[in-house]
Amino acid sequence: MALMDFGASFNQMKIARLRHQLAAHPLLTTESLAKLALRSDPDHVRFHDGERRIETDMSMMLRTDHTRVRLRRAIDHLHKAEAFVQIINVRHDPEYRALVDEVLDQLLPHLPPRDRALVNRDAAVFLASPGSVTPFHLDHEQNLLCHVRGAKTFYVWDHRDRSVVTERALERFYHEGTLRDTPYRAAIQPKAHVFELVPGDCIFMPMGSPHAAATGKEITVTFSILFNTLTSFDVVETYRANHVMRRLGLSPAPVGDSWVRDSLKRRTVGAVRRARDLARGRSTERRLQWY
Ligand SMILES: [Fe+2]
Repeated sequence: MALMDFGASFNQMKIARLRHQLAAHPLLTTESLAKLALRSDPDHVRFHDGERRIETDMSMMLRTDHTRVRLRRAIDHLHKAEAFVQIINVRHDPEYRALVDEVLDQLLPHLPPRDRALVNRDAAVFLASPGSVTPFHLDHEQNLLCHVRGAKTFYVWDHRDRSVVTERALERFYHEGTLRDTPYRAAIQPKAHVFELVPGDCIFMPMGSPHAAATGKEITVTFSILFNTLTSFDVVETYRANHVMRRLGLSPAPVGDSWVRDSLKRRTVGAVRRARDLARGRSTERRLQWY
């Protein structure tokens, strides 16, 4: 069965609204996901149970709970608390792993041949109270954000718009994983693509697309299927190369201006990294390591 309708024009560089068939899946009921949250590694379940706004710093807001006492309370009171629960690394769970892989395997024919051996497969779950806000942020994966329960207003900005996130902020983001150079500003709001999501809707976001969300009067559940292609990982590596060059006092050309120059920068920085790893006695194997 097709779990996702990718259409004929799927493009990993373009925001798209798709439809999925996951809303009635038994693994994606709120009860199943609450059980997943309570059996997952506590470090993989992050939550917030206080006030937050679109300009809140997302990287500072989430907490974990090794006792699971406060987490359990946040889940039990989802209908009335201002809670937000995020489960990451969902593909560690064998049942969810099979579901994620089924969707991603259906995606593969829609990607260029060199990108079909995905370099990263993952998923995350978001459970949110009524009237909940997910602050402005961006992530390093390509995201099939599948909406499963309730109504959600979703804002997403074009990942190529440097008036929203600057080239230097991206260099730092892909190098360090932080977005401290990129606060939300009211001036960017008119540039957002705004989607009113209902169960069955899926928003595909290219890697690095800034986004934010607000929920209405119901509990909402969203299941994000995450992946990275080699093309996206090349972009990450080029931003890292630019970050290194800038620290050396150089002024690198923006990523994407020249494929040849980007490729050369990646090879140069990769060679430096391999030489450094050899000198330190570390493995030089290329690995997917974000930060
Ligand atoms: Fe996100």
